[in-house]
Amino acid sequence: HEEFTKVKNIATIELGRYEIETWYFSPFPPEYNDCLKLYFCEFCLNFMKRKEQLQRHMRKCDLKHPPGDEIYRSGTLSMFEVDGKKNKVYGQNLCYLAKLFLDHKTLYYDVDLFLFYVLCECDDRGCHMVGYFSKEKHSEESYNLACILILPPYQRKGYGKFLIAFSYELSKKEGKVGTPERPLSDLGLLSYRGYWTRVLLDILKKHKGNISIKELSDMTAIKAEDILATLQNLDLIQYRKGQHVICADPKVLDRHLKAAGRGGLEVDVSKLIWTPYK
Ligand code: COA
Ligand code: NA
Repeated sequence: HEEFTKVKNIATIELGRYEIETWYFSPFPPEYNDCLKLYFCEFCLNFMKRKEQLQRHMRKCDLKHPPGDEIYRSGTLSMFEVDGKKNKVYGQNLCYLAKLFLDHKTLYYDVDLFLFYVLCECDDRGCHMVGYFSKEKHSEESYNLACILILPPYQRKGYGKFLIAFSYELSKKEGKVGTPERPLSDLGLLSYRGYWTRVLLDILKKHKGNISIKELSDMTAIKAEDILATLQNLDLIQYRKGQHVICADPKVLDRHLKAAGRGGLEVDVSKLIWTPYK
């Protein structure tokens, strides 16, 4: 029966120094159907059925960071850009891993068409993956992010908002506005709402005089529709004489900013060395 084939298969994974309980089904190749636990190489993301296989692999694997270019480094945080076409197996492994924590995404598309931005915490043993987002090389719908994941041991520390901020910094460098691919998960939507609210209200607080949605969009690379929805959601838009007017009462803005949670880790744009994909 079709519905039984989608039942969660892998219950736990080992990745670096973490043992992680999985959340959802992921379509690993059939030879892994009888496994409850998988052992991942934290650097190349190859996965194995037995601990001894992983130990043997770790003695041979030369990687100490994701394959691809390091495009950002600030303190112990690094970001690597991995081209799915040049690193197909890595891209596929990352998709298998990510699906364990993503409910609705179909990850069966061609990794060739995507870039993967992998966030790492680095120490003397290497660069340890915290999470990633994927991005289509060419998006007709102006998507600047396809999938986003922060591994459970690293969640709720501001890394998700860091990745979201990073995706918009890339869009700014491209001179484009961007929006995440839909549908968003509940946690994805919460993170985006928090990010959009903070960025937009910080600008509104500092800005003197009128400002339009278009100007906000130009400053932030956030798509106009997302700006309008965010401000409407906060009840900050009024419709007067046929025009949208944004409320900028400092007390109201402060109240919403407080409710929007912490700012997350900052992206230091001066540490981003990157040119758009051609
Ligand atoms: N409960 C309630 N709110 C939560 C939450 C949780 N478990 N996790 C995140 N949030 C909300 C909070 O508002 C949080 O801000 P705050 O901590 O300042 O209050 C905000 O989202 C973002 O927090 P942050 O720490 O930056 O996010 P994260 O590092 O945990 O990553 C995701 C967020 C969405 C990337 C992460 O939850 C994840 O990987 N989920 C599984 C995959 C997924 O659903 N991806 C999105 C697909 S579109
Ligand atoms: Na996607």
